[in-house]
Amino acid sequence: MIDLITAAAEPLVDAFRRPITYLRVSVTDRCNLRCVYCMPEAGLPWIPKPDVLTFEEITSIVRAAASIGVRSIRLTGGEPLIRRDLDHLVAMIAAVPGIDDIALSTNGLLLEQQAPALAAAGLRRVNVSLDTLHEDRFTAIARRPGLHRVLAGIDAAIAHGLGPVKINCVVMRGANDDELESFARMTRERAVHIRFIEVMPVHDNVEMQKDAWVSSDEVLTRLGALGELHAVPNPHGNGPARTFAYDGAPGTVGVISPLAHDYCETCNRVRLSADGRLKLCLFGDNMIDLRTPLRTGGGEEAIVDILRASMHVKPERHHLDLGQTASMMRAFSEIGG
Ligand code: 5AD
Ligand code: SF4
Repeated sequence: MIDLITAAAEPLVDAFRRPITYLRVSVTDRCNLRCVYCMPEAGLPWIPKPDVLTFEEITSIVRAAASIGVRSIRLTGGEPLIRRDLDHLVAMIAAVPGIDDIALSTNGLLLEQQAPALAAAGLRRVNVSLDTLHEDRFTAIARRPGLHRVLAGIDAAIAHGLGPVKINCVVMRGANDDELESFARMTRERAVHIRFIEVMPVHDNVEMQKDAWVSSDEVLTRLGALGELHAVPNPHGNGPARTFAYDGAPGTVGVISPLAHDYCETCNRVRLSADGRLKLCLFGDNMIDLRTPLRTGGGEEAIVDILRASMHVKPERHHLDLGQTASMMRAFSEIGG
């Protein structure tokens, strides 16, 4: 006879023997910025509100995932802080047995106000997107102003113990690639962890992406010219970044190359979209509906079964190359850690 309890506790492992311990949860697809590499100025065809999972539904899925080995949750968007009362969701997830790490990826605009409540609710750390240290460029890249609010958000995160704070910087030739050195110098002064991300092709940014793409190797060469870089482990967790530090620096610099396949080898993650679909690969179009079973009374056991079955579908690696676009993908904050 199969021992159901032991069977249910068997951790989630995909067909390529990668343990899946990390779930990224998008709480909204909407955003209060319009970064040129991410979405069109007019926005996207947003998910209708009734299709967006409630906090209770998200928590049920997290509970199911935690019962089979998921330990870390990252809340993402769109911009997660525009979802009302997000700290309530953080508290609900923090109460799920087995979850020992809750992180957030944000553009930082609303972080200063919300950092105290988020930290009190059990959020452990944040990643903040920041592509430039110049206000006029910020407004050009994000198509809306707000640099000083993001910087205040980073300070508030550090002050409330939401560290190590990682800063995600998407490198674009001609737009911000002359700021690598300024960002790198920050890591010598402050305990911030800057990760330079290669721009990926999404939606209608393909032309821009081709022109703006700067390789991680080029970034590392330029960073190396500033001083000797030592390879260091990733500050907290085993994200996809290759990480380095300057002598005596409190912070680190890192690079993320989403298009390189070594990115896939250590993949330990799946993603939940705001409307309750499980996405198995950053660039794949494979989406598995969890909302319908949940809303038709399936309960957490049904979700556990679907999560297990999905492991046969999770691809070994993505098949995207430079110059191609992933038509269906919504990459937002998918990569940053
Ligand atoms: N290329 C690279 N990174 C992207 N992000 C969103 N779109 C892209 C893209 N086209 C990531 C960045 C940003 C976060 C919100 O999502 O890391 O900081
Ligand atoms: Fe919003 Fe992040 Fe996309 Fe910029 S990159 S538009 S901040 S979701």
